[in-house]
Amino acid sequence: MIAKSAGITNSIDENLIKWDPKFKIGIPLIDAQHEHLVKLCNDFYQSLLKSKSNKNEDYHALVKQTLETCLNYAATHFKEEERLMEASKFSGYKQHKDTHNSFTAKCEIAYADIDTMPISEAIKFALFLYDWINTHIAHEDRLYMPTLVEFLKEQKAKQA
Ligand SMILES: [Fe+2]
Repeated sequence: MIAKSAGITNSIDENLIKWDPKFKIGIPLIDAQHEHLVKLCNDFYQSLLKSKSNKNEDYHALVKQTLETCLNYAATHFKEEERLMEASKFSGYKQHKDTHNSFTAKCEIAYADIDTMPISEAIKFALFLYDWINTHIAHEDRLYMPTLVEFLKEQKAKQA
């Protein structure tokens, strides 16, 4: 969480951003995507740490590339979640989609600024990404879980 990691500029903890199995929501496809998303968020964070500790090296391209990969995967994952929420007629679909959209809008602004963003700001943004992703998984994503589990069960039964 951001509050816990506020000291990051003084002490670098390379293991700060990790997937925790307690964030599993019980739908294997979604859990695998969440785990991968956290990994990509960590790749971005690691690229920033490298950039910070190797001032003579140019890690700029790596920072931009890891952020782009993370945000592209987030977009793909959101589309998949939204497809399933809509197909299962989840009542909170629109609200959930709005949450994805406002997160995406914030990320687009940060991505547009990444070339000129000071490293300390970029690290704060990486922590925001991690915090948002984990909080979203722990709260909002749990809301659609019963509807989606039921829907996927019905789909499987139809195919049998
Ligand atoms: Fe979501």
